[in-house]
Amino acid sequence: MNITPLRAAIIGCGVISDIYIQSLQNKFKIIDVVACFDLNEDKMANTANNYHLRAMSYEAILADDQIQMIINLTNPKSHYDIIKQALEHHKHVFSEKMIAVNLEDGQELCQLAKENHVRLGVAPDTFLGAGIQTARYIVDKGLIGHPLSAIVSLNRDFDVYADIFPHMNQVGGTLPFDTGCYYMTALASILGPAIRVSAFGRRYRPERIGKRTDRPWFGESSTVEAQNIVTAIVEYENGTLCTVHFNSENILAEDPVLTLFGDEGTLKLGDPNNFDSPNILQKPNNDPVDFPFSHGYRENSRGLGAAEMAWSITKQRPHRASMEMAYHVFELIHGMYISANQSQIYELQSTFEKPAPLPTGYLDNGFWGPTEESALIF
Ligand SMILES: NC(=O)c1ccc[n+]([C@@H]2O[C@H](COP(=O)([O-])OP(=O)(O)OC[C@H]3O[C@@H](n4cnc5c(N)ncnc54)[C@H](O)[C@@H]3O)[C@@H](O)[C@H]2O)c1
Repeated sequence: MNITPLRAAIIGCGVISDIYIQSLQNKFKIIDVVACFDLNEDKMANTANNYHLRAMSYEAILADDQIQMIINLTNPKSHYDIIKQALEHHKHVFSEKMIAVNLEDGQELCQLAKENHVRLGVAPDTFLGAGIQTARYIVDKGLIGHPLSAIVSLNRDFDVYADIFPHMNQVGGTLPFDTGCYYMTALASILGPAIRVSAFGRRYRPERIGKRTDRPWFGESSTVEAQNIVTAIVEYENGTLCTVHFNSENILAEDPVLTLFGDEGTLKLGDPNNFDSPNILQKPNNDPVDFPFSHGYRENSRGLGAAEMAWSITKQRPHRASMEMAYHVFELIHGMYISANQSQIYELQSTFEKPAPLPTGYLDNGFWGPTEESALIF
């Protein structure tokens, strides 16, 4: 098939940029990554060399009419500025999570994208992977009956993680935002919008000392800026009630829990941070079944959301990792903090259309070979 790919620039050449560029160069024909920029010149030069890209300043990228799309892989604190400038220059943007740090900034970016008639898509895109698309299939086919309730639990050790990525102990970067967003996005894509949330929070051991000798902040003290243990109850528009537990101060291995309870069955999803999370379906009078994947993209396919957005632009249909769903999840997590801080139930202001499921049947290494994009082209 003859397609004209969208020309894109990568902004932020850090840890996650490799898998993005590899996916886009090897798997998805719809995006042509042509340039990159990072404030850190060494990282920018390495990325440009490794992937045969042009290293350009952000000003030059924005001024280049040939570049239609910005893929924003900077740290969350830079997201607002990078996205805003790109939208102002009438470029489509796909950004890593979260959309911004402050709620108002996220809202402003969505408004700007609408006003300038350009697309804004935001990660996580793991909900487009085989694991969560299969969970969606199971629920849509009625295999658990009516979804009634859900449990989310996520534990991590941010004494380790935040010593590598300090923003994880800062406002807008804590565990509910950084990793909880995968769980809340998976649920949003399956259940639809939430309507209200009530939460408690605790800021445990606020003073920290940098422990990693390979980091410039070794030996320096820093402060955990927001509650690092959060529990919440979320009510969804479809009536599902969800209990949420986020704890970034647990030293044991992660034990991700994402379970949906219906009136005809129970579905245990795997880690929604992965593309190939398993789905264990329990029906009455039967052993639990490890449900086979109904969808493709089992391997690490970060960049899939950007590719799907590029296909959507080409085909003039809505893209799935939409700014509306991303902003709603962002508001939901902010709502947990607002509720905890004000001892009040937080009523969500935003809503979104549940993204259409991807077509079933496409397996990434299937009969058309590893670069087939049949799941996204239609
Ligand atoms: N590391 C992961 O496993 C992972 C996984 C999924 C998503 N993410 C998300 O991806 C994004 C990037 O994460 P990362 O792990 O690659 O971080 P990183 O710190 O390794 O890389 C971020 C890069 O962005 C650059 N940068 C920051 N502000 C900039 C600006 N204004 N202009 C140009 N460059 C700028 C930094 O110099 C750095 O090289 C974050 O939003 C993160 O939440 C990370």
